[in-house]
Amino acid sequence: MKPRDAEAGPRRLRGAATIADLRELARRELARMVFDYIDGAAGEERTAARNREALERVHLLPEVLVDVSSRSLACTLFGEPLAMPVVVGPTGLNGAAWPRGDLCLARAAAAAGVPFVMSTAATSGLGEVAAAAGPLRWFQLYMLRDRGLAREFLQRVREHGFRVLELTVDTPVGGRRPRDIRNGFTLPFRWSAANLLDAARHWRWAARMLRQGTPELKVFAELLGSAARGDTISEVMQQQLSGSFTWDEVAWLREQWTGPLLLKGLWSPEHARRARALGIDGAVVSNHGGRQLDGAGATIEALPGFVEAARGELTVLVDSGFRSGTDIAKAIALGADGVQLGRATLYGLAAAGTAGARRALSILAQELELAMALCGARNIGELRGRCVVHEGPRR
Ligand SMILES: Cc1cc2nc3c(=O)[nH]c(=O)nc-3n(C[C@H](O)[C@H](O)[C@H](O)COP(=O)(O)O)c2cc1C
Repeated sequence: MKPRDAEAGPRRLRGAATIADLRELARRELARMVFDYIDGAAGEERTAARNREALERVHLLPEVLVDVSSRSLACTLFGEPLAMPVVVGPTGLNGAAWPRGDLCLARAAAAAGVPFVMSTAATSGLGEVAAAAGPLRWFQLYMLRDRGLAREFLQRVREHGFRVLELTVDTPVGGRRPRDIRNGFTLPFRWSAANLLDAARHWRWAARMLRQGTPELKVFAELLGSAARGDTISEVMQQQLSGSFTWDEVAWLREQWTGPLLLKGLWSPEHARRARALGIDGAVVSNHGGRQLDGAGATIEALPGFVEAARGELTVLVDSGFRSGTDIAKAIALGADGVQLGRATLYGLAAAGTAGARRALSILAQELELAMALCGARNIGELRGRCVVHEGPRR
């Protein structure tokens, strides 16, 4: 029997041609508090908007009369061959968007030939994700307070075949996201009268959640058992995660993890230099999709300086605001080795489970390939430098 989401997907997805279309489907499908949790950002959402504005100011340079009849999006990251320079990035609480959302994203990534990064805040367990994901499975770590537990945790991650580790470094404290505060969003869901009424309006989502049961932080539950105390997920996270970790802990982690290690949330040339000095393998230039420091600059603005300071010693990924294949082409043109996705695949997941996430990845692949051809590039390497950056309005 086919999984339910694979069957339900295609009908709803008919006519979804862009990530913006998938976002609109997600908006209609999800209870408002869940859509806002995914779509929202910190503060006045200025950084989230700026990520997009800055991408609009990067112009690709079309090229003509070049033979682009044979093209390839293939690339290699950390010795692993990828179908395109894209990674499905870590997002927590995926089970709130779709039942077993982590598994859906993992399957979609495997089908597209790109890595899936499992979040520490996943709502499925390590074993389940390892079984659903292809060989390209990475793990995102939030640093735990207790080093003994962290060591045990890393051992489990390794045993489940996750080869690449991404340490998220831009969350010493959680961002303040007004939409979540207004909606009273938390897990387990808080059923105010307004949220109940809204769930009734989004009955398909509500029925899926009833069938699944309330999503929980499975990775934490597996690791901590009954020690994962707290009434809500944010309480559990606050108890277990360390807000005091510094570059010293990064050095410690480097000793513990012999596989490829990335830091997620760097942006400045100085960050690149420090990461190189510690023998880190890569970085994700990220502002967490504008969900942490509202007022921070756009990642595409920071990218060229970071790439220069990385001096080819760090594999450089970038995220935050990427919604099309042309956005991805711009990042590659400015020197990134790849783009990590957050909301783009989440909108697809929320619209139609695995099928929706697969649709998101195929839209991005088609758009990227087209952009490449129209820029006169036959492969990802030839995209380098094929853009100009226009100054934005003075702020
Ligand atoms: C709903 C949601 C949950 C997220 N959860 C995590 C997480 O658990 N760990 C993490 O490192 N980043 C997390 N992020 C940040 C993403 O990995 C990524 O940095 C961000 O979404 C990129 O911006 P974009 O969504 O505009 O592409 C989350 C983002 C969203 C939208």
